[in-house]
Amino acid sequence: MASLSTQVIILEYSDIKPLTLLPINMFSKLKRIISMVTKSNNHNVQENSLYQLIGGESGTRNLAEAFYDEMETNIHLQELLAIHKQPLDNIRQKFFEFLSGWLGGPRLFEQKYGHPQLRARHMPFQVTKKQRDLWMLCMNNAMKKVIDDKEIEQHLRQAFDQMASHMVNC
Ligand code: HEM
Repeated sequence: MASLSTQVIILEYSDIKPLTLLPINMFSKLKRIISMVTKSNNHNVQENSLYQLIGGESGTRNLAEAFYDEMETNIHLQELLAIHKQPLDNIRQKFFEFLSGWLGGPRLFEQKYGHPQLRARHMPFQVTKKQRDLWMLCMNNAMKKVIDDKEIEQHLRQAFDQMASHMVNC
């Protein structure tokens, strides 16, 4: 992974530390990817955002779906699945909407539900360190399935890791 010491783009969106996007010296490589991304949904989409880099709306939806597919099918994630309301249809949609804004695309979650305030929204649930680790296992397995570029995957992993740790509340 390239050093983060050079210029970065800061995306101020979540209620935690801003999501730090890719170092500038990765941009030339990634610009090629961006140019391949569909331009059909560029409204309110930040340039060079992770949202664009993972394939815009369809790529973001694929990630959200892969995450909950993994939660539903991986036997090691039963404890995590157990605290989610089932069926998972609503949370699949909500998570996609959240990711859309958080990754620099349209702020779909915010438009519907107001500011994410994600930590507060998790307070009704007991988020232990173990749950956090299961959540990350789930996300890492999902990313392996739908994110092709290893550098982007690694960058996303760091961002999710930071966010997941912030959710621990007991
Ligand atoms: C650290 C471990 C985590 C656990 C155990 C956890 C668990 C949960 C649970 C049980 C819900 C409620 C689902 C339902 O309505 O049935 C939820 C909602 C949600 N989670 Fe998580 N979560 C975790 C981390 C994260 C992270 C890191 C993100 C984002 C990157 C995230 C995004 C969301 C969103 C957007 C919702 C919907 C919130 C709402 O509308 O109230 N969660 N989570």
